[in-house]
Parts: sequence; C-alpha cells; structure tokens
Amino acid sequence: MHTLIVFASGQGSNARAIHEYFGRGQQARIGLIVCNRADAGVLTWAQHAEIPTWVVDRQTFMSEDFLRQLQTYQPSLIVLAGFLWKIPDALVAIFRNKIVNIHPALLPDFGGKGMYGAHVHRAVIEAGKKESGITIHYVDEVYDSGDIIMQARCPVHPDDDDLTLAGRIHGLEHFFFPRTLEYLLQTGFAASGQYTKASSV
Ligand code: GRF
Repeated sequence: MHTLIVFASGQGSNARAIHEYFGRGQQARIGLIVCNRADAGVLTWAQHAEIPTWVVDRQTFMSEDFLRQLQTYQPSLIVLAGFLWKIPDALVAIFRNKIVNIHPALLPDFGGKGMYGAHVHRAVIEAGKKESGITIHYVDEVYDSGDIIMQARCPVHPDDDDLTLAGRIHGLEHFFFPRTLEYLLQTGFAASGQYTKASSV
C-alpha cells in the first residue's frame, strides 16, 4: 500500500478526488494532509474522512523536525494540491522526483510566483487564449519549473470568466490527477526518479 502525503491550502477538491479514486482499495491512501491555513475547507473535509491533518506555520514548515516527521510516513509521493507556499529546497532534495504539483494552466505559460487560482484564469482570459488546461509536474527548486509529467487541454469560451474557466479546469484536474498519480505509482517513476526532460532524450 502506497502512502501519499497531500499538501493543500484551500477547499481541497483535488484531495477529495484523490481520496475517492483510491477509495478503499489496496493501492494507495492519503496518510496525512498538511495545510498552512487553519480555516481551510480541506481540513473540515479531512476530519469527516478521518484523514490525519497537520496545520503548519512557517517556522514549523521550514524546520528539520518537519522533514523528519514527513519521512516517518515513508510517502511514495508528496502531492501538492492547491498548496500556496513554496517548497523549501531541503524538502525538494530529500524527496526529489517524489513531489508532484498540479497547476491550473498550460505551463510554461501562466506560471511562477503569484500565479495561482483566479489570477491564473484571469491572465489566460486577458491574454485572449482559446485554450487552457492543466499541468502535472515534478517540483524542483524553482516555482512551476519542474519536469512536466502530463498536460490536458480544454477550450476557453468567449464568454468565460475566471469562475467558469476554473470549473472546467477543476473537471480536468479531478479526472486526471488521481489517474496520473496511479500511473506514477505503478510505473515506479516516482520511486526511481527515472523521468527525464523531453528535451534531453
Ligand atoms: C487547483 O485548481 C490547483 O490546480 C491549484 O489550486 C486549485 C486547488 O483547488 N494549484 P482545490 O483546493 O483542490 O479545490
């Protein structure tokens, strides 16, 4: 049984989709949800789902004790599902190729610091894009720059606003995120770090 640790800051609809996808099967389970906001919706849901949670402040998040505690779970993957803080380099180094993020646009466009949630969707609409989508990628030391694992696309309609576009993007996320994690777990990419940049093969 694989253990996933999910980091989330918001309502946690992706955490829920992952939890529901793996269900009561023997493949994977969420062992811990790490959250940086005590009022985040994800915590209320996690309590109902009886998933352990840990609300961290900056100091804890940056501490060695935090790293040690995470290691005790022996996670196959750390899953960033709408988590807003940058991941410290020490954490990236310990869990290299095991931290996976989902971004609600087609990277490398519309990524980087400050590009989250509605900011992303408004930027896509303001740029007049006819298409947006999701990017699932490994996390490295730079925001939204790690190796891309997969992307999925959807149209941007002329009458879209950030809410309607966010709804369409969430639909893609809830379908593809759990299945991509399953793929990583089954192929062992997550454990071996064999994934290489498309540009370097
Ligand atoms: C998702 O759109 C994700 O791509 C982005 O933040 C949002 C989180 O939504 N990084 P939720 O909390 O999983 O509902």
